[in-house]
Amino acid sequence: MAQTLEAVTPLSTNKHLVRWVEKMAELMKPSAIHWVDGSEGEYQKLCDLMVAKGTFIRLNQQLWPGCFYARSDAGDVARVEDRTFICSLSKDMAGPTNNWVNPFEMRRTLKSLFRGCMRGRTMYVLPYSMGPVGSPMSQIGVELTDSPYVVVNMRIMARIGLPVFKEIDKDEKRVVPCVHSVGMPLGPGDKDVAWPCNQEKYIVHFPETREIWSYGSGYGGNALLGKKCFALRIASNIARDEGWMAEHMLILGVENPQGEKTYIAAAFPSACGKTNLAMLIPPPGFEGWKVWTVGDDIAWIKPDEKGELRAINPEAGFFGVAPGTSPKTNPNAIETLSRNTIFTNVALTPDGGVWWEGLTDQPPAECLDWQGNRWTPEIGKQAGKKAAHPNSRFTAPARQCPSIDPHWEDPEGVPISAFVFGGRRASGIPLVYQAFNWSAGVYVGATMGSETTAAAAGAVGKVRRDPMAMLPFCGYHMGEYFRHWLRMQRTLSVTPRIFHVNWFRKDENGEFLWPGFSQNMRVLKWITERTRSRAAGKETPIGWVPHYEDIDWQGMPFAREKFEQIQNVDRACWRSEVIGHEELFIDLHDHLPPEMIYERELLICRL
Ligand code: GTP
Ligand code: SPV
Ligand code: MN
Repeated sequence: MAQTLEAVTPLSTNKHLVRWVEKMAELMKPSAIHWVDGSEGEYQKLCDLMVAKGTFIRLNQQLWPGCFYARSDAGDVARVEDRTFICSLSKDMAGPTNNWVNPFEMRRTLKSLFRGCMRGRTMYVLPYSMGPVGSPMSQIGVELTDSPYVVVNMRIMARIGLPVFKEIDKDEKRVVPCVHSVGMPLGPGDKDVAWPCNQEKYIVHFPETREIWSYGSGYGGNALLGKKCFALRIASNIARDEGWMAEHMLILGVENPQGEKTYIAAAFPSACGKTNLAMLIPPPGFEGWKVWTVGDDIAWIKPDEKGELRAINPEAGFFGVAPGTSPKTNPNAIETLSRNTIFTNVALTPDGGVWWEGLTDQPPAECLDWQGNRWTPEIGKQAGKKAAHPNSRFTAPARQCPSIDPHWEDPEGVPISAFVFGGRRASGIPLVYQAFNWSAGVYVGATMGSETTAAAAGAVGKVRRDPMAMLPFCGYHMGEYFRHWLRMQRTLSVTPRIFHVNWFRKDENGEFLWPGFSQNMRVLKWITERTRSRAAGKETPIGWVPHYEDIDWQGMPFAREKFEQIQNVDRACWRSEVIGHEELFIDLHDHLPPEMIYERELLICRL
């Protein structure tokens, strides 16, 4: 179906775009160019092609209609933060939390890396809209990629194809050019592999020219460039310039039995519970309550003409963590991924289905693990091997989610009443507290700490500062990003309330103190009631916390002592926490807004 270079007819009349595609083809030397129309037929053909090549395994269609299975290379399983670069004109603009290389030097490096990198492969010209096509809040990118896996995943994750070309052609719209190569050209007679990639990886952003170049990886945020690269790293730059916010946040709506809806956006670091919270089903005792899903990973948030914040989910699908996802923990996710889903790095069962740790209490008697090796519970125990990779994921269409909000594609977005920050913290941080005001809340987000997870290559379980869950995703100086947050309030007539949660506090035996998942509804209820000034709270040095009586315990007995334990604000512990804040602030010192220093001083005084 791919056309030869000479015969190719562009699907766009945008001269800049066509010229750029020609220029890039000249550099990367693909054997064919394919302009992606985004149709169902094209999707099926690409899936067939990948089945033929061994990249995809078609799952048992009776059990898993429309579903495919992929295994990545064992060295290409997560985002690579140490290979991610923000190449702004000056190092100072990228700030100390980003890897920076002089953009001129990086361009030279990229030129040589990308020269001939698509030899023997088809280059797909993939137009995509982040946000509903035509929404005033949406942005357009075009990704050139030599990975059909990327094309089919992007068809789920974003709006792609002809309607987007039409949008680009309409008014010669500015698009964000994205170049992606797996970095494994094929010479004549070379045999391809199921998951082509390169050991050397580069995930590069040029904030001023709004460009993305990605080399060597085919996995997730490294390769689906609309997601973290565009919707967060580049978009955070656009948002700062234009007075809006691009955040690593889920968006949900809480509806009470009176039919009143409160929208909340929440930032938790990777693999810390966004997808699960966004799809929460209220537990017994919460009859008449409902949680609606708008997005599970990224929020673009803009003040409207009335000075209220409105948010859209720029994505169209979920790239969700598989392990731990089950009919018990997240039934809405299970329903969402039951069809038309791509699974990557989970285990394959003998009946042509999928499995991962936590999906069922009882593991399958036998399966193939994420690397294709025979796995049994016994082998798993002996070798200490998981059947699914901890960062294995499902790519599923958002519209299949039973709790998808009727307004999830509203071009104007949904109104945001509260922000919630949260990390994965075994000790010290209470289940929930509310910041005293906006600047105190910005401080709470800015100083957030969380244990690292398998979503990024590197050590797991180490507490690090992850401001607003944006450490790997903020495309400019973190201190300036805090300043932008502080400045945003001045444009608002209604200031959202700011909260912090921690579902992951553990007892002396290493067991979670809080049941989490659907039970998080109890915390959500307090949060929504607080934003409507209906719930009481108690002042502590770090903010407002609920009394035991302020939480609705209907349907779940929870001992007062246990609640005190999980809400405990230990002053000694918080003093060392502030030292952790200080470490981040030292790095950011010359761009740190004074408000952050004042807030820290106030906190220290209260402690
Ligand atoms: P990214 O897609 O990487 O941004 O992750 P995410 O923030 O969407 O995290 P997700 O909801 O996928 O959850 C990650 C892991 O945390 C999964 O294994 C979940 O089962 C687990 N998890 C989510 N919510 C809770 C909770 O309330 N309590 C506990 N103990 N675990 C949770
Ligand atoms: C994350 O790591 O926060 C993700 C997965 O959402 S990825 O798209 O790979 O970045
Ligand atoms: Mn994420």
